[in-house]
Amino acid sequence: MTAGQNRIPVNLDYAASTPMRAEALLAQREYDDSELAGVNPNSLHSLGRKAATRLEVARREITRSFGARVRPSEIVLTNGGTEANQLALLGLAEGARQRDRKRNRVIVSAIEHDSILDNLPLLRAAGFTVDLVKPCRMGYIKPATLVELLGDDVALVSIMVANNETGVVQPIRELAAATHTVGALFHTDAIQGYLHIPLDVTELGVDAMSVAATRLAVPWHLAHSTLRAARRCARASLAADRRPVVVPARKTCERSSPLPLPPHL
Ligand SMILES: Cc1ncc(COP(=O)(O)O)c(C=O)c1O
Repeated sequence: MTAGQNRIPVNLDYAASTPMRAEALLAQREYDDSELAGVNPNSLHSLGRKAATRLEVARREITRSFGARVRPSEIVLTNGGTEANQLALLGLAEGARQRDRKRNRVIVSAIEHDSILDNLPLLRAAGFTVDLVKPCRMGYIKPATLVELLGDDVALVSIMVANNETGVVQPIRELAAATHTVGALFHTDAIQGYLHIPLDVTELGVDAMSVAATRLAVPWHLAHSTLRAARRCARASLAADRRPVVVPARKTCERSSPLPLPPHL
Protein backbone atom coordinates (compact mmCIF):
# COMPACT_ATOMS: atom_id res chain seq x y z
CA MET A 1 0.00 0.00 0.00
CA THR A 2 1.51 3.37 -1.00
CA ALA A 3 1.49 6.41 1.26
CA GLY A 4 -1.80 8.29 1.01
CA GLN A 5 -3.90 5.28 0.02
CA ASN A 6 -5.21 4.81 3.52
CA ARG A 7 -5.89 8.51 4.11
CA ILE A 8 -9.47 9.19 5.14
CA PRO A 9 -10.71 12.72 4.45
CA VAL A 10 -12.08 14.44 7.55
CA ASN A 11 -14.44 17.39 7.37
CA LEU A 12 -13.22 20.03 9.82
CA ASP A 13 -15.22 22.87 8.27
CA TYR A 14 -17.86 23.03 10.97
CA ALA A 15 -18.12 26.78 10.46
CA ALA A 16 -19.89 25.94 7.17
CA SER A 17 -22.19 23.26 8.55
CA THR A 18 -22.22 20.43 11.05
CA PRO A 19 -23.50 16.87 11.18
CA MET A 20 -26.37 16.46 13.66
CA ARG A 21 -25.54 15.55 17.24
CA ALA A 22 -26.78 12.21 18.59
CA GLU A 23 -29.04 14.08 21.07
CA ALA A 24 -30.54 16.15 18.26
CA LEU A 25 -31.15 13.06 16.11
CA LEU A 26 -32.79 11.34 19.07
CA ALA A 27 -35.01 14.34 19.84
CA GLN A 28 -36.03 14.51 16.17
CA ARG A 29 -36.82 10.77 16.11
CA GLU A 30 -38.89 11.05 19.28
CA TYR A 31 -40.84 13.89 17.69
CA ASP A 32 -41.32 11.94 14.44
CA ASP A 33 -42.64 8.94 16.40
CA SER A 34 -44.96 11.06 18.55
CA GLU A 35 -48.58 12.05 18.03
CA LEU A 36 -47.34 15.55 17.11
CA ALA A 37 -45.35 14.44 14.03
CA GLY A 38 -46.27 16.72 11.15
CA VAL A 39 -49.06 18.48 13.08
CA ASN A 40 -49.64 22.10 12.06
CA PRO A 41 -49.25 24.26 15.21
CA ASN A 42 -51.66 26.79 13.67
CA SER A 43 -54.50 24.24 13.55
CA LEU A 44 -57.31 24.79 16.02
CA HIS A 45 -57.90 21.10 16.84
CA SER A 46 -56.51 19.63 20.05
CA LEU A 47 -53.33 18.20 18.46
CA GLY A 48 -52.68 21.54 16.76
CA ARG A 49 -52.94 23.33 20.11
CA LYS A 50 -50.58 20.77 21.68
CA ALA A 51 -48.06 21.34 18.86
CA ALA A 52 -48.37 25.11 19.39
CA THR A 53 -47.61 24.67 23.11
CA ARG A 54 -44.55 22.54 22.30
CA LEU A 55 -43.37 25.14 19.79
CA GLU A 56 -43.75 27.85 22.43
CA VAL A 57 -41.54 25.85 24.84
CA ALA A 58 -38.86 25.58 22.12
CA ARG A 59 -39.18 29.29 21.37
CA ARG A 60 -38.64 30.12 25.07
CA GLU A 61 -35.54 27.90 25.16
CA ILE A 62 -34.14 29.63 22.07
CA THR A 63 -34.97 33.05 23.52
CA ARG A 64 -32.69 32.51 26.50
CA SER A 65 -29.67 32.36 24.18
CA PHE A 66 -30.21 36.02 23.22
CA GLY A 67 -29.92 37.43 26.75
CA ALA A 68 -32.30 37.99 29.64
CA ARG A 69 -34.35 40.83 28.20
CA VAL A 70 -35.51 39.24 24.94
CA ARG A 71 -39.14 38.03 24.79
CA PRO A 72 -40.23 34.80 23.00
CA SER A 73 -42.57 36.86 20.82
CA GLU A 74 -39.51 38.61 19.39
CA ILE A 75 -38.23 35.37 17.82
CA VAL A 76 -39.22 34.69 14.21
CA LEU A 77 -38.55 31.11 13.08
CA THR A 78 -37.48 30.68 9.45
CA ASN A 79 -36.30 27.84 7.21
CA GLY A 80 -32.63 28.79 7.32
CA GLY A 81 -30.06 31.55 7.64
CA THR A 82 -30.55 32.77 4.07
CA GLU A 83 -34.25 33.28 4.67
CA ALA A 84 -33.68 34.94 8.07
CA ASN A 85 -31.23 37.39 6.49
CA GLN A 86 -33.53 38.20 3.62
CA LEU A 87 -36.54 38.70 5.87
CA ALA A 88 -34.56 41.07 8.06
CA LEU A 89 -32.90 43.01 5.24
CA LEU A 90 -35.89 43.54 2.96
CA GLY A 91 -38.47 43.70 5.74
CA LEU A 92 -36.67 46.20 7.95
CA ALA A 93 -35.59 48.47 5.07
CA GLU A 94 -39.13 48.64 3.68
CA GLY A 95 -40.68 49.01 7.14
CA ALA A 96 -38.35 51.91 8.04
CA ARG A 97 -39.14 53.63 4.73
CA GLN A 98 -42.87 53.23 5.27
CA ARG A 99 -42.55 55.04 8.59
CA ASP A 100 -40.34 57.80 7.13
CA ARG A 101 -40.38 58.28 3.34
CA LYS A 102 -36.95 59.98 3.19
CA ARG A 103 -35.24 56.84 4.48
CA ASN A 104 -34.40 55.15 1.19
CA ARG A 105 -30.73 54.23 1.68
CA VAL A 106 -29.34 50.92 2.98
CA ILE A 107 -25.74 50.38 4.06
CA VAL A 108 -24.21 46.90 4.16
CA SER A 109 -20.61 45.88 4.59
CA ALA A 110 -18.68 44.74 1.52
CA ILE A 111 -17.76 41.50 3.32
CA GLU A 112 -21.30 40.22 3.98
CA HIS A 113 -22.28 36.66 3.11
CA ASP A 114 -23.97 36.16 -0.27
CA SER A 115 -27.29 35.68 1.49
CA ILE A 116 -27.13 39.43 2.22
CA LEU A 117 -25.31 40.61 -0.93
CA ASP A 118 -27.64 38.71 -3.29
CA ASN A 119 -30.51 40.88 -2.05
CA LEU A 120 -28.92 44.16 -3.11
CA PRO A 121 -30.42 44.07 -6.64
CA LEU A 122 -33.84 43.54 -5.02
CA LEU A 123 -33.31 46.55 -2.76
CA ARG A 124 -32.21 48.70 -5.73
CA ALA A 125 -35.20 47.50 -7.76
CA ALA A 126 -37.41 48.58 -4.85
CA GLY A 127 -35.97 52.11 -5.10
CA PHE A 128 -33.32 52.00 -2.37
CA THR A 129 -29.79 53.31 -2.82
CA VAL A 130 -27.25 50.83 -1.47
CA ASP A 131 -23.85 51.82 -0.08
CA LEU A 132 -21.11 49.32 0.70
CA VAL A 133 -18.91 50.03 3.70
CA LYS A 134 -15.42 48.58 3.30
CA PRO A 135 -13.33 46.85 5.99
CA CYS A 136 -9.92 48.12 7.07
CA ARG A 137 -6.79 46.07 6.31
CA MET A 138 -7.36 44.07 9.49
CA GLY A 139 -10.68 42.86 8.10
CA TYR A 140 -13.14 44.76 10.30
CA ILE A 141 -15.39 47.75 9.72
CA LYS A 142 -14.17 50.80 11.62
CA PRO A 143 -17.08 52.68 13.24
CA ALA A 144 -15.55 55.93 11.91
CA THR A 145 -15.76 54.59 8.33
CA LEU A 146 -19.45 53.81 8.84
CA VAL A 147 -20.10 57.24 10.38
CA GLU A 148 -18.84 58.88 7.14
CA LEU A 149 -21.66 57.15 5.24
CA LEU A 150 -24.47 57.69 7.77
CA GLY A 151 -27.20 60.29 7.31
CA ASP A 152 -30.86 60.81 8.15
CA ASP A 153 -31.85 59.17 4.83
CA VAL A 154 -30.53 55.77 6.00
CA ALA A 155 -33.20 53.16 6.71
CA LEU A 156 -31.03 50.22 7.69
CA VAL A 157 -27.43 49.17 8.28
CA SER A 158 -26.53 45.47 8.11
CA ILE A 159 -23.11 44.23 9.26
CA MET A 160 -22.27 40.66 10.20
CA VAL A 161 -20.93 39.53 13.61
CA ALA A 162 -18.12 37.31 12.30
CA ASN A 163 -16.97 36.84 8.73
CA ASN A 164 -17.44 33.34 7.35
CA GLU A 165 -14.13 33.41 5.40
CA THR A 166 -11.70 35.27 7.67
CA GLY A 167 -13.34 34.74 11.07
CA VAL A 168 -12.82 38.42 11.90
CA VAL A 169 -15.29 39.59 14.58
CA GLN A 170 -16.81 43.02 13.98
CA PRO A 171 -17.27 45.76 16.64
CA ILE A 172 -21.06 45.37 16.54
CA ARG A 173 -21.88 47.39 19.69
CA GLU A 174 -20.07 50.47 18.36
CA LEU A 175 -21.45 50.07 14.83
CA ALA A 176 -25.04 49.72 16.13
CA ALA A 177 -24.63 52.75 18.40
CA ALA A 178 -23.32 54.87 15.50
CA THR A 179 -26.27 53.75 13.34
CA HIS A 180 -28.79 54.74 16.00
CA THR A 181 -27.44 58.31 16.16
CA VAL A 182 -29.12 58.93 12.78
CA GLY A 183 -32.29 57.03 13.73
CA ALA A 184 -31.62 54.07 11.39
CA LEU A 185 -32.13 50.40 12.24
CA PHE A 186 -29.25 47.95 12.69
CA HIS A 187 -29.33 44.27 11.67
CA THR A 188 -26.54 41.79 12.21
CA ASP A 189 -26.00 38.40 10.59
CA ALA A 190 -24.74 36.41 13.59
CA ILE A 191 -24.80 33.05 11.82
CA GLN A 192 -21.06 32.73 12.42
CA GLY A 193 -20.55 33.40 16.09
CA TYR A 194 -23.89 32.45 17.67
CA LEU A 195 -23.29 30.37 20.83
CA HIS A 196 -19.53 30.64 20.23
CA ILE A 197 -19.15 34.21 21.47
CA PRO A 198 -21.51 36.07 23.85
CA LEU A 199 -24.29 37.73 21.83
CA ASP A 200 -26.68 39.50 24.18
CA VAL A 201 -29.03 41.34 21.82
CA THR A 202 -29.84 44.08 24.34
CA GLU A 203 -26.24 44.65 25.33
CA LEU A 204 -25.14 44.81 21.68
CA GLY A 205 -27.99 47.23 20.97
CA VAL A 206 -28.99 45.60 17.67
CA ASP A 207 -32.55 45.80 16.32
CA ALA A 208 -32.43 42.43 14.59
CA MET A 209 -30.10 39.45 14.56
CA SER A 210 -30.10 36.36 12.30
CA VAL A 211 -28.76 33.04 13.54
CA ALA A 212 -28.92 29.50 12.13
CA ALA A 213 -28.88 25.99 13.52
CA THR A 214 -26.71 24.49 10.78
CA ARG A 215 -23.52 25.38 12.68
CA LEU A 216 -24.84 23.95 15.93
CA ALA A 217 -25.30 20.28 15.09
CA VAL A 218 -29.08 20.52 15.27
CA PRO A 219 -31.64 20.08 12.46
CA TRP A 220 -30.75 21.90 9.29
CA HIS A 221 -34.04 23.59 8.64
CA LEU A 222 -34.02 25.56 11.87
CA ALA A 223 -32.96 29.16 11.89
CA HIS A 224 -34.27 32.21 13.56
CA SER A 225 -33.96 35.91 13.67
CA THR A 226 -34.74 38.06 16.59
CA LEU A 227 -36.38 41.25 15.45
CA ARG A 228 -36.61 43.50 18.47
CA ALA A 229 -38.15 46.96 18.33
CA ALA A 230 -37.96 46.62 14.57
CA ARG A 231 -40.40 43.75 14.46
CA ARG A 232 -43.32 45.96 13.55
CA CYS A 233 -41.36 47.17 10.51
CA ALA A 234 -40.89 43.66 9.17
CA ARG A 235 -44.53 42.84 9.83
CA ALA A 236 -45.64 45.98 8.03
CA SER A 237 -43.60 45.25 4.97
CA LEU A 238 -44.59 41.61 4.79
CA ALA A 239 -48.21 42.60 4.98
CA ALA A 240 -47.72 45.20 2.27
CA ASP A 241 -45.95 42.89 -0.14
CA ARG A 242 -46.55 39.17 0.14
CA ARG A 243 -44.39 38.14 -2.81
CA PRO A 244 -42.04 35.23 -2.04
CA VAL A 245 -38.74 36.91 -1.47
CA VAL A 246 -36.17 34.21 -0.81
CA VAL A 247 -33.41 34.00 -3.41
CA PRO A 248 -30.78 31.24 -3.19
CA ALA A 249 -27.36 32.49 -2.18
CA ARG A 250 -24.50 31.85 -4.58
CA LYS A 251 -21.91 29.36 -3.42
CA THR A 252 -19.37 31.01 -1.16
CA CYS A 253 -15.69 30.81 -2.11
CA GLU A 254 -13.52 28.41 -0.15
CA ARG A 255 -10.63 30.78 0.54
CA SER A 256 -9.72 31.20 4.17
CA SER A 257 -7.02 33.62 5.32
CA PRO A 258 -6.36 33.88 9.03
CA LEU A 259 -5.93 37.48 10.18
CA PRO A 260 -4.54 38.84 13.45
CA LEU A 261 -7.05 39.83 16.12
CA PRO A 262 -8.34 43.37 15.63
CA PRO A 263 -7.63 45.86 18.46
CA HIS A 264 -11.23 46.03 19.75
CA LEU A 265 -11.06 42.38 20.89
C1 LIG B 1 -22.34 34.43 7.69
C2 LIG B 1 -23.37 33.57 7.02
N1 LIG B 1 -24.59 34.11 6.78
C3 LIG B 1 -25.57 33.38 6.17
C4 LIG B 1 -25.37 32.07 5.79
C5 LIG B 1 -26.48 31.30 5.13
O1 LIG B 1 -27.06 30.41 6.06
P1 LIG B 1 -27.90 29.13 5.58
O2 LIG B 1 -26.92 28.21 4.94
O3 LIG B 1 -28.49 28.57 6.85
O4 LIG B 1 -28.96 29.59 4.62
C6 LIG B 1 -24.11 31.48 6.03
C7 LIG B 1 -23.85 30.11 5.58
O5 LIG B 1 -22.76 29.60 5.64
C8 LIG B 1 -23.09 32.25 6.67
O6 LIG B 1 -21.88 31.75 6.93
